[in-house]
Amino acid sequence: MISIDGLKFELYIPEAEVKQRVKAVAERINEDYKGRQVILLGILNGAFMFAADLVRELTVDNEIHFTKVSSYEGTNSTGEVKELIGLTIPLEGRDVIVVEDIVDTGVTMHHLLNYLKDKGARSVEVCTLMSKPERRQVEVDIKYCAMVVPDKFILGYGLDYNNKGRGLKDVYQLKGER
Ligand code: IMP
Ligand code: MG
Repeated sequence: MISIDGLKFELYIPEAEVKQRVKAVAERINEDYKGRQVILLGILNGAFMFAADLVRELTVDNEIHFTKVSSYEGTNSTGEVKELIGLTIPLEGRDVIVVEDIVDTGVTMHHLLNYLKDKGARSVEVCTLMSKPERRQVEVDIKYCAMVVPDKFILGYGLDYNNKGRGLKDVYQLKGER
């Protein structure tokens, strides 16, 4: 059990199982993209650790890039992607896999996918470490998902609470109801 800013988190998925799940998803990508070149697009900050482990399991020809989503904020927040910070590579005609930490309501990913399709990518697929289907507000087509999780706040292996806990090797979940 660990405690961050007054909240308690309990061990949920140990490191070894996370690694296994990441490997399994990488093997599917290796199979599906055989003979092609893939652009992995990691979404900062949360996906940095997943992306680092995923890319080391890939045998397909790949390039890895990172971007940060900047969305509109305020009273009428739609979560719409305003800009993808640091995304400078041309995507026309490329096969892109978005690498995300978790798809929750799906709002972020929905807008992100539209943004990337507008950039002329040949194909855009989603590879997420986790998905919380119970929380979905917008339908998102997720091709690669390492773990489906229940509606509990998750911490560790890249995911944060108040920007803390990202470096934890294991995955934790909030103890009790949120
Ligand atoms: P969505 O737009 O609701 O799908 O939110 C996606 C983003 O919210 C993710 O990329 C995470 O950064 C963050 N997020 C959602 N659920 C959790 C969680 O359980 N722990 C930590 N961050 C989360
Ligand atoms: Mg994220």
